[in-house]
Amino acid sequence: MDTVRADLVKEITAAIEPLITKREVLQRAVELLDSFSDGYDWTGFYIMNGDKLHLGPYIGEKTPHTEISLYAGICGAAASSKKTVIVDDVTADPRHLACSLSTRSEIVVPLLDGEECLGEIDIDSNQPAFFSEEDREMLEYIAEAVVNQLKKLRST
Ligand code: SME
Repeated sequence: MDTVRADLVKEITAAIEPLITKREVLQRAVELLDSFSDGYDWTGFYIMNGDKLHLGPYIGEKTPHTEISLYAGICGAAASSKKTVIVDDVTADPRHLACSLSTRSEIVVPLLDGEECLGEIDIDSNQPAFFSEEDREMLEYIAEAVVNQLKKLRST
């Protein structure tokens, strides 16, 4: 990972560490993530609730997808497989649930606590094939930092 991305991981980890509510943790993380790149056009969290993903804090256009089944969308694919999904061309992926017609590519990174998926980070870009392996690596580290903080809050 390059130093700019490694610095963002450190910055988010440090920024969420003193926060004491789940909402604050997700909100702060989404703000820092969104400001990282002009190519991140919709940045948000979905949180697992039973077998559905509920929209959490986000920055970007209002989305009709406030609740997504584990078996729908790219979001559902990442949550059910517990693996990061990168789609270079959302117009060619039948799973894609559109939030904005200008979206061209998407990355969804699950928030994993061992085998349990607590939610996910979802980022859309208006540029095709915007998300790199470096983004994946960075976002997986950030997901880990968010999960660690959420677990700390759960146990206090
Ligand atoms: N594109 C997602 C739905 C969420 S919106 O992008 C905010 C999907 O296909 O699951």
